[in-house]
Amino acid sequence: MNAPAAPAVSKPERSATAGRPSSAKPPGPCLLVIFGAGGDLTKRLVTPALYNLACTHLLPENFAIIGVDHTASDDQAWRDHLSQAMQSFVGGTGEFDPAAIDQTAWTWLTERMYYQVGDFEDSKSFDTLRDRIAEIDKAHETGGNVIFYLAVADRFFGRVIDELGKAKLVDADEPAPADEAKPWRRVVIEKPFGHDLKSARDLNARILKVLDEDQIFRIDHFLGKETVQNIMTFRFSNGMFEPLWNRDHIDHVQITVAETVGVEARGSFYEATGALRDMVPNHVFQLLCMTAMEPPTSFEADAIRSKKVDVFKAIKPVEPHHAVRGQYESGSVLGKSVRAYRSEPNVDPRSNAETYAALKIDIDNWRWAGVPFYIRTGKYMTRRSSEIAIQFKQAPMALFAETGCEALRTNWLVIRVQPEEGISLQFEVKRPGPTVELQTVKMNFAYKDWFPPQQNVGYETLLYDVMTGDQTLFQRADQVEEGWRIVQRVLDQWAKTTPDDFPNYIAGTAGPAAADALLAQDGGRSWRPVAVDAGPKPLSTGLASK
Ligand code: BG6
Repeated sequence: MNAPAAPAVSKPERSATAGRPSSAKPPGPCLLVIFGAGGDLTKRLVTPALYNLACTHLLPENFAIIGVDHTASDDQAWRDHLSQAMQSFVGGTGEFDPAAIDQTAWTWLTERMYYQVGDFEDSKSFDTLRDRIAEIDKAHETGGNVIFYLAVADRFFGRVIDELGKAKLVDADEPAPADEAKPWRRVVIEKPFGHDLKSARDLNARILKVLDEDQIFRIDHFLGKETVQNIMTFRFSNGMFEPLWNRDHIDHVQITVAETVGVEARGSFYEATGALRDMVPNHVFQLLCMTAMEPPTSFEADAIRSKKVDVFKAIKPVEPHHAVRGQYESGSVLGKSVRAYRSEPNVDPRSNAETYAALKIDIDNWRWAGVPFYIRTGKYMTRRSSEIAIQFKQAPMALFAETGCEALRTNWLVIRVQPEEGISLQFEVKRPGPTVELQTVKMNFAYKDWFPPQQNVGYETLLYDVMTGDQTLFQRADQVEEGWRIVQRVLDQWAKTTPDDFPNYIAGTAGPAAADALLAQDGGRSWRPVAVDAGPKPLSTGLASK
């Protein structure tokens, strides 16, 4: 990750690309090979991200893309297919919803796009691919630098990498002319990386026979989110928060990733996955370790990644009694009636797959011992809201005992990851008037008030970083394995039984009652409401809450 740009006190103008100071330069020449060229990920996220990078001139001039998939097609048909897809996003409501497609940037990109029919499990396809890479590398002068992006189902990861190895496509030892930098080969792997601790270990062992760790970029798209990257900057660039960021001042932390989408057409995937596997050891744990890590000694990738792994190492495997699972019943989400999980297509009518998971995590180190981190994630919840909420310890009551005030409310610092990205601080003030009456108020920073809106699907920074060889925002082998280790006991326990109370939360609500009990049993704590912007509201937006 680049060091932060110089601080600004007025509303700064920035480069239109996420996370890059306006001084960001295009990376050096390279060729991007996408396995899974016909897939949803390529269409919905990778192509729009490449287009956004092209719009902001953050792709190299010497750049080309080869899309590989098993369906018969050719260069022009693939370009047309993606052109239609891009056009279909215009004015939409998805991650990529431009007002119009910039034809100059799009044409620039399509002129560099090629299609190669290939079977991911057939060695011959990789020999053909090698020849095609050589041809296109020469035509576009991409310097022999190649990124292989595995936008394919996870069952192909090991095999594709084996085949890349056999075809000598990922050899880092190619001879380079004395006056040129050695060409590099990098591999991007999507999630899920394994489906439990054993399979993650096996996959790491298998791919590390072919690749060096510094060639591997394991993507977790949460790390592509600006607000997630900002957690570290917020913590370590402000003198006033970090001194409070520990067990002396913090009561507990709540991390919520609530979604308003259901499982819908993803039944077969979800039946084998469930909410815990799908969201926790990867996305939610990224939020957890960004919040809990010690300050790194530099912005070097390994300095940061090691501090994250240290957080995981201090967490014992979660015991099943510290975990709650839920499954949605039919209900209404944002005013629309939706069916129960068990009635979704390709779902067993007696399924025990969870669509909601909550865990209590204890980090047993000097900073956090005794400060629980409660995490929860679920489909079809009340609102879409991802946030990290830090509750500070209560101030002494002594001064206010005589005022009629029954209890002091605690302060919350809330980092809103999405939507309504921002940070707020909730604290007490005296209500104007002759007596001492307390009122909870909130100071709010909203990204939209300070930064111009930008087209960003979350993959721009990640792709740029792969091109520049920066691994900071990618998971190292040990981090992935630690994540699985922490949840493994719960996964094992949940696989054995189907809860009697499933389905146990109504779609469009905040989750099962047992999740409330998980906090209540710890001295009466409770979850924050699942709301885009929970907490007190000023008079201008409604009556202030007391
Ligand atoms: C994916 C999960 O990795 O992340 C989905 O498979 C989930 O189930 C999605 O909906 C959430 O990502 P985002 O960026 O929409 O919050």
